[in-house]
Amino acid sequence: MQRLEIPVISYNARTAAFMASEGFALGADGVFRDPGGRSYAQVLSGKAQPTAMVRVWGCQMNEADGEILQGQLHAMGYGVASAVEAADVALLNTCAGPGTAAEHALGEVGRLRQLKTERPEMVLGVCGCLAQMPETVEYLRRHAPHVDLIFGTHNIHELPVLLGRAHREEAQTIDVWRQAPETVEDLPATRSGGVRAWVNIIYGCDKYCTYCIVPTTRGRERSRRPGDILAEVGGLVDRGYREITLLGQNVNSYGHDLGADYDFADLLRDVAELGGLRWIRYTTSHPRDFTPKMVEVIASHPNICEHFHLPVQSGSDRVLRWMNRGYTRAQYLQLVELIRLRLPQASLTTDLIVGFPRETEEDFAETLDLVRQVQYDNAFTFQYSPRAGTPAARWEDPVPTAVKGERLGRLNELQYAISRRRNEHLVGTRQEVLVEGPSPKDPAVLTARTRANRLVLVPGAADAAGRFGRARVTAAQTWTLHGELESLEAAGA
Ligand code: SAM
Ligand code: SF4
Ligand code: F3S
Repeated sequence: MQRLEIPVISYNARTAAFMASEGFALGADGVFRDPGGRSYAQVLSGKAQPTAMVRVWGCQMNEADGEILQGQLHAMGYGVASAVEAADVALLNTCAGPGTAAEHALGEVGRLRQLKTERPEMVLGVCGCLAQMPETVEYLRRHAPHVDLIFGTHNIHELPVLLGRAHREEAQTIDVWRQAPETVEDLPATRSGGVRAWVNIIYGCDKYCTYCIVPTTRGRERSRRPGDILAEVGGLVDRGYREITLLGQNVNSYGHDLGADYDFADLLRDVAELGGLRWIRYTTSHPRDFTPKMVEVIASHPNICEHFHLPVQSGSDRVLRWMNRGYTRAQYLQLVELIRLRLPQASLTTDLIVGFPRETEEDFAETLDLVRQVQYDNAFTFQYSPRAGTPAARWEDPVPTAVKGERLGRLNELQYAISRRRNEHLVGTRQEVLVEGPSPKDPAVLTARTRANRLVLVPGAADAAGRFGRARVTAAQTWTLHGELESLEAAGA
């Protein structure tokens, strides 16, 4: 499989070369050490047991990046800090997307100012989508000199180099790349999901929805080569992972940039037929690129979960046009019909934005109508908020904030009722589940997920974590099912 434009590099080869130039080599314990046995982290920090932590805001892509940052920190010799107050390195992996994630992250930067005055030797880094934006860099430069290191989404694989610089340089170390010049393979990751793992298949997004900051913060679409993805998945299976989620801002456009006749349906099929994976998920889908061939591959492979997250955003054709979504309401509903026909038991979820600039009460009524028609199992609903640098942020927005809020309330009320009803239909059924672990609220209760990614609370012991089983659903709430574990498989099944 030939890639057309973007070169592919090996993280291991490049990092080993950099470390060798600094006098470090990879030890048997997977940590870079100098000839005296001191880890890279010990040398940088001057401490016997340096620790680090990564805080993550935003979507699964950012979570996956957080695991890659953790993986690199581990290879440098950093332990895991119990709290930011104790960390020698603290990285804030930020989000510039919907909601208040950006405000929270910047609030955390402000909160850490005091800590940095007490512990000036600690390295505070800001990375992720927010750091990719020039206005954030400017803000941090002017107003947050206590931040030592700023880097973006395209150079997370350079962390050993960046931390070295942050320790050496007196001034703030700023290294934000405007684009990703290469695709980096064999990235390390400290995975935190038990037997579940994420696998990036495509970076960036070319859809340019008019409200969305992601194409700015994540760059153009770059697909990984199928062979590299399949090798990573195979390695995960060998290490005992049983559920994987293929990740991308738009997984359905996978392969378009590879210049080969190989698309997301082909990749899904090949991953499903690798063997050893119990559940395969993928996120996020774009309805415009979701082909009948993909629905067919999903329907004909039992280890691909029959959960479709299909962000629709609006039920009004003119709002969809303004959003640059590339499909009409009728085309979207046609896709839903195909899915329901081929996989009647499938669960459907979505993302919706209310209060888009110039959205009228009639437009909003069409969204409500579509939600009634599709009967989603769940929906992530957002009140439109302008993101600097996006086209929609420059448009006149006559919809008052109070009206947006009121519409969001009405939409949520409708969706909550539908979610609850759909959950109630499951009472009395038996569901295949993967047990995650003790519930944060009650250690005697376990959280588990169904194939459709529904949360089920079941009484049970902690040793069930990471095991598949069958649960009988006994009660339903809007977002949660309650049940009893009827059987539990051996670990690794
Ligand atoms: N790539 C995914 C997609 O296309 O659906 C996810 C993109 S975004 C990180 C997640 C959701 O945030 C979007 O589906 C959209 O509903 C919402 N969103 C994005 N920008 C927004 C904005 N400016 N205001 C409100 N909601 C927004
Ligand atoms: Fe944003 Fe649209 Fe791309 Fe999703 S498809 S990441 S909403 S530009
Ligand atoms: Fe946020 Fe970046 Fe994801 S903007 S939603 S973390 S891609």
